[in-house]
Amino acid sequence: MLPQEIIRHKRDGLALSTEEVAFFVKGIADGSIGEAQIGAFAMAVYFNDMNDEERIGLTLGIRDSGEVLDWSGMGLNGPVVDKHSTGGVGDLVSLVLGPWVAACGAHVPMISGRGLGHTGGTLDKLESIPGYNIVPSNADFRRLVRDVGVAIIGQTGSLATADKRLYGVRDVTATVESIPLIVASILGKKLACGLDALVMDVKMGSGAFMPTASASRELAEAIVTVANGAGTPTSALLTDMSQVLASCAGNAVEVAEAIAMLKGDIRQGRLYEVTEALAVEMLLAGRLADDESDARGKLYGALNSGQAAERFERMVAGLGGPVDILTSFERRLPRAPIIKPVLADAAGYVVDMDTRDIGMVVVGLGGGRRRSDDVIDHSVGLTAIAGIGDKIEVGTPLATIHARSEDDFARAAEQLRRAMILGEQQEEAPHMIYDVIRQREAE
Ligand code: URA
Repeated sequence: MLPQEIIRHKRDGLALSTEEVAFFVKGIADGSIGEAQIGAFAMAVYFNDMNDEERIGLTLGIRDSGEVLDWSGMGLNGPVVDKHSTGGVGDLVSLVLGPWVAACGAHVPMISGRGLGHTGGTLDKLESIPGYNIVPSNADFRRLVRDVGVAIIGQTGSLATADKRLYGVRDVTATVESIPLIVASILGKKLACGLDALVMDVKMGSGAFMPTASASRELAEAIVTVANGAGTPTSALLTDMSQVLASCAGNAVEVAEAIAMLKGDIRQGRLYEVTEALAVEMLLAGRLADDESDARGKLYGALNSGQAAERFERMVAGLGGPVDILTSFERRLPRAPIIKPVLADAAGYVVDMDTRDIGMVVVGLGGGRRRSDDVIDHSVGLTAIAGIGDKIEVGTPLATIHARSEDDFARAAEQLRRAMILGEQQEEAPHMIYDVIRQREAE
């Protein structure tokens, strides 16, 4: 088989055979196919799409291009389940969800990423905790997943190796925005973790990765079809990202809010609603609950008994962080030198916000990255961010800014005022869960 023939077929709108897709991915992984050919292939897929069979083949090829984790023989007493999100602003769900479902009997080997652009990254948030090591030995990772039930760590070089090369080429050839390539990239990495089930959180709204609601839905449906076709039971929730999910955005500030929720101090609101809905879906997918109300009862019990918080503390300690993070976090997490509210200069109701711009306010403060090699400041960010529907008077705080300098504060304050849209009529806050997409029963 010749790579240029496979590219020609895709260029001409033909469906590739399973063998052709497997050959091409193998060539990406072993370096026998050059970057020009990878770029041409990605562009041909971008314009001509792939059918479900091709998408499944590409996903399986990426999954199998590196190590595939195998949990059999570990003596686990529960299912291996994970969640993946398309990313957002103030989306600290993973920090709470992993320990919470682990406390209900799941094993969660969560391999997460860093933030880039307007969205935050789970690893950056966890690295606010002094000592937390995102690259433990394989043995420590496996032991934590077995004994604590959860370990949130960074991508190891050995998983889904073809994705790194393919994504690198897509990034510089304007071919990231292609549903079949996104699906195979996300799922290739996730399915390499040896999961019994996966739940996807696909965001919709001004802070979402996908540009429109219909594109978010298309991605969610494609992920459910391809993952199930590849043999991993998967469902997807379409959730709201038209405003910041938590009441804060940044790194250390998000860890503090996650701990507050794990300790039971936050029992309602946007973050709680989305995290609980994803946790319910994970317990159902892992067959750890009979139905939704059983799942909610188990989750409530794990939060009330302190077991969810305890799992978080054990995970942090097991990965090199403090052994007492639940009680010591306020003094251990880094604090910005300037912490001041930004006051509204007009009155009205918050009717909308440019969530992407709010994410970029955090980047501007130094809490995120414009380029993948940027160093970030874990202490900066926003807290007490106003939400859609809130009544604002002149002088009402729109948020509290945590900044490194007065200049940074002033710049962030101006950007934040612009990103919050005020109107005269109070708008209802958007729904948080738009839909749950599960595999269709065989007809
Ligand atoms: N996230 C990924 O991991 N891959 C993509 O292609 C897009 C988002």
